[in-house]
Amino acid sequence: MTQHHPWPELRGIAYGGDYNPEQWGRDVWREDVALMREAGVDLVSVGIFSWALIELREGEFDFDWLDELLDLLHANGVSVDLGTPTASPPAWFFADHPDARVITADGTVMGFGSRGMASHSSTAYREAIVRIAGALAERYADHPAVVMWHVHNEYGVPVGEDFSPQSVAAFREWLRERYGDLDGLNRAWGTAFWGQHYTDWAHVGAPAAAPSVVNPAQRLDFHRFTDHQLLQCFIAERDAIRAHAAQPITTNFMANQSWTTDLWTWAREVDIVADDHYLWAADPEGEIGLAIAADLSRSVGGGAPWILMEHSTSAVNWQPRNIAKRPGEMARNSLTHLGRGADAILFFQWRASRSGAEKFHSAMIPHAGTGSRVWREVVELGAMLDRLDEVQGSRVLADVAILWDFESFWAQDLEWRPSVELDHRERIRAFYEPLWRAGITIDFAHPGQDLSAYKLVIAPAQYLLSTADAANLTRYVEAGGTLLVSFFSAIVDEHDAVHAGGFGAPLEPALGVRVEEFLPLREGDGVTLEWPGENGLAADAWTEDLVMSGAEAIATYVDGPGAGRPAVTRNRHGAGTGWYVSTRLHGDALDVLLGAVYADAGIEPPALPDGVEAITRRGDDADYLVLVNHREDAAELAASGTELLTGADAPGTLRVPGGGVAVVRTDRGREGGDRPDS
Ligand code: GLA
Repeated sequence: MTQHHPWPELRGIAYGGDYNPEQWGRDVWREDVALMREAGVDLVSVGIFSWALIELREGEFDFDWLDELLDLLHANGVSVDLGTPTASPPAWFFADHPDARVITADGTVMGFGSRGMASHSSTAYREAIVRIAGALAERYADHPAVVMWHVHNEYGVPVGEDFSPQSVAAFREWLRERYGDLDGLNRAWGTAFWGQHYTDWAHVGAPAAAPSVVNPAQRLDFHRFTDHQLLQCFIAERDAIRAHAAQPITTNFMANQSWTTDLWTWAREVDIVADDHYLWAADPEGEIGLAIAADLSRSVGGGAPWILMEHSTSAVNWQPRNIAKRPGEMARNSLTHLGRGADAILFFQWRASRSGAEKFHSAMIPHAGTGSRVWREVVELGAMLDRLDEVQGSRVLADVAILWDFESFWAQDLEWRPSVELDHRERIRAFYEPLWRAGITIDFAHPGQDLSAYKLVIAPAQYLLSTADAANLTRYVEAGGTLLVSFFSAIVDEHDAVHAGGFGAPLEPALGVRVEEFLPLREGDGVTLEWPGENGLAADAWTEDLVMSGAEAIATYVDGPGAGRPAVTRNRHGAGTGWYVSTRLHGDALDVLLGAVYADAGIEPPALPDGVEAITRRGDDADYLVLVNHREDAAELAASGTELLTGADAPGTLRVPGGGVAVVRTDRGREGGDRPDS
């Protein structure tokens, strides 16, 4: 294996996007590179969907156009993130290997004419991806334009689960390895229920469409298997590249927007985390979802700088109503990503496509050309990022972690849950949002990881919790941590089987409480909680009948099915505190709870004007305070140092214009300084 670099050889914050010039003639290529220079673009991703134009028939390659393109980019000072085109195999591949087609749960064989990989378990596909990745790496390992490799595109979308015969056979092998024998499988899947007991491995299959709900443990294992197969495809390509090339290798994740891949595992296999993020247009505060995705991207990579591989200059074209970004919004989005740890700001795509499925998707050069608002803002953003080069490599520090566990989410999303209101996405956002509004920086964390760096750990939706991970959380509390757990957590083990001892049993030592019975509410019904000193707190959707075993009741139900019973509890355990909330508190009520929890955890939210996002990145000698003003009017706030975008002095206060952004460098000097606010 070749020695490789951890970060592309680039100076400062990288800027650019996906570049798919095979759609145009050479005159457009020449115009493109001139415009890239004008916009300050220094990194483009090339070749992501070019398989059919590189390998014309099996083993017959045409690299001439790619040679010419890479030379042209290099001559113009633009570096290349070279893609492997394996997310879209050519027509000849499917003609030669019809059994590599993906089959859905209901038996539909997927056709050609779109994009999406072949079956992740197909031998022909695995051979073909290694062949093309290896051929590209062999040819371009030493090309001076190539600074990194981009394997595939967004694993898990649009193809995740595959029910083809090759996939089912591979699933069986994966299960044999996991459980050893059929007894193990029968136990793990609880096959005694509904008469599913297996006596022969040949009878074990994938959870295809069935008359009623399919065994949830089988579904969960098929999810794990799918993730595993996709990762094996990535690893096969990565290793084929690494045999020739030293540049860092990545693939683009979809943190917070796709749930097929377990990014905690994947992040260990890439050299750099790269993420794609698109605003959800129906959400009037899409910037909060954006911040979640950015924090998750940083967190899965252990806090290291990451690459925003794709976002949009304006509207996308695949949502029900594709809302154009307003003036300044693209810069605000970009600076939020940067503030939360991104050292490269890239877009899909450089030039808007005239043909094909994505012709209504915005681009850096829109259909309206360079006489447009979008182009002017693209050029301005390039100039802004140039002034922020020194931020590269600095890190974000957080005192609070929110637990994020893909396996738990997969399990919770299965059918026949106690209420349709039990939505982990909704709960994560519900807890993230008040912290975001308070200007408290958040990491996401896995329940099994070392949590000792955090003053507060929040578990908004930890439905599946292994006993080992529950013990980890308990040790965190024992050692002095503050843990806040929300309802419908610690319910099942890794086989989606209810924990022995009942709901919440594995966390009982830390929380001093467990759940005797779920008491979900009818649609639209609410309850009131009595919290001393407050005027009745409102909640809805869900309540529980709690059994106390050491905790004190902080709030009780006034009405509803749990009237008179505890609703919010607090438990001293070891040197720390475990909080439990058994209902869906409305915003103001959640603020009351969080205020009490912050006091236990020793967290003081910074004083920030409403609607202003503030994140600090810590460099070797300076802190960089990144400010994003989501309000229409200007905001005044405390800041000392130099504002890097204007070069102006911030002598203790700074005015950020409505809709504007600012980055203040505060030198810490040799002694170092205080840790930035939360
Ligand atoms: C994804 C893909 C891109 C493009 C964009 C459009 O992120 O990776 O190829 O389809 O979406 O939003």
